[in-house]
Amino acid sequence: MSLNGDGHRAESVPAAQKFAQIAGWGMYVPSRVVPNDTFVKMGLDTTNEWISSRTGIERRHIVSHDESTSDMAVRASQEALHVAEMTAAELDLVIVATCTPDHIMPSTASLVQDRLGAKAAGAMDINAACAGFVYALNTGTAFIESGRARNVLVVGADELSNHLDWKDRSTCVLFGDGAGAVILKTAAEPGVLATTMGSDGAGARLLTIRAGSRNRHHGAGSNGHAAANGDYYLRMNGPQIYRWATQMMAKAAEKVITASGLKTSQVDLFIPHQANFRIIETTARRLGVPLDKVFSNVEDYGNTSAASIPIALCEAVQSGRLKVGDNLVLASFGAGLSWAALTIRWGAAVPAHLSRWRSIKYPVGDRVAAVRSALRREQWRVRAEVDKRLRKDK
Ligand code: ACO
Repeated sequence: MSLNGDGHRAESVPAAQKFAQIAGWGMYVPSRVVPNDTFVKMGLDTTNEWISSRTGIERRHIVSHDESTSDMAVRASQEALHVAEMTAAELDLVIVATCTPDHIMPSTASLVQDRLGAKAAGAMDINAACAGFVYALNTGTAFIESGRARNVLVVGADELSNHLDWKDRSTCVLFGDGAGAVILKTAAEPGVLATTMGSDGAGARLLTIRAGSRNRHHGAGSNGHAAANGDYYLRMNGPQIYRWATQMMAKAAEKVITASGLKTSQVDLFIPHQANFRIIETTARRLGVPLDKVFSNVEDYGNTSAASIPIALCEAVQSGRLKVGDNLVLASFGAGLSWAALTIRWGAAVPAHLSRWRSIKYPVGDRVAAVRSALRREQWRVRAEVDKRLRKDK
């Protein structure tokens, strides 16, 4: 790996075998909590009992009007960088998994890259809906294993609340907003052991948001036809997805467990996509993993789409459910239809509380990045203005 003239790292041919290890993790959920009762108060024909017994969900967090996917992604990423004791300038690549980007273009990853001050990093979004984070982790791993990147930020962030039809009881009670992030670093030992990804586009109609970014915060234009048809709303065939998901997640998890040379009994922690506790339970039973080795926080967040697995991972680490040397399995499913799974030998010790120095250094670094971002944006604005005047004078 070398640096070219403008400070960006140029790609080079890989030398020796490299492995990807998770070195930092972070999460962010909006402060507004919406308990199940809210839907009843809104006049929806539902009950707390129905939602909680059919899904396991008790509450979810919903973005405020001035909060977007990139805002949540930046907050989760800053925390992940702090845990990894890294600065954003050390990142080679920023990948944001999202199906609710701030804009159709630019990518949400570019916005995150700028606001973090990841000066040497490439940036791209991945959309595999709820399976997006594991897809992105898989992609980041490939960049590291091939030697084309040393440090990769992988984020899962979604604000599906902006695409919910709040009169449709079969969908609006299921989802929440949030972001989770990890830092993938080059390591001498694995790390990520095995990965799988799959897609069945024939099932595309089972779960859709037909029209593009509605983006009320960022002023994107709205298409009258799409608005009239409610095409900005998430539509789903719940029972079909349910049946498919319980089979597919178990199959995908089984595949990576076997590919890692492990037995199911050697799995220390299983983190499936947090969509519905009944799906999680059935998947674990099919896989033969006891429930005490399964992590779930669907109760507190609902289905946060691409953010669900990194948020669960964060809480699992923070609550001491993962120790160095543990075998961790992640499995996800989502619109596409798409699915992905991954096994990791956990290698990162949970850091002690931030030292006094680091607790000062990191917020200052984040502020500096925010100021840099504002200055850079102003620079582009002035450049465009000067250019416009010069062309007028000609
Ligand atoms: N409150 C009360 N009743 C409801 C509600 C509600 N919120 N929602 C649906 N019902 C009713 C239905 O109208 C139906 O009534 P009917 O029998 O009179 O027709 C009855 O409850 C049963 O409906 P089902 O859809 O059969 O209920 P089910 O037990 O399948 O649960 C659910 C529905 C929770 C949606 C389930 O199918 C599920 O979890 N599916 C998977 C969804 C999922 O995971 N999606 C995310 C994919 S990830 C991504 O990419 C975004």
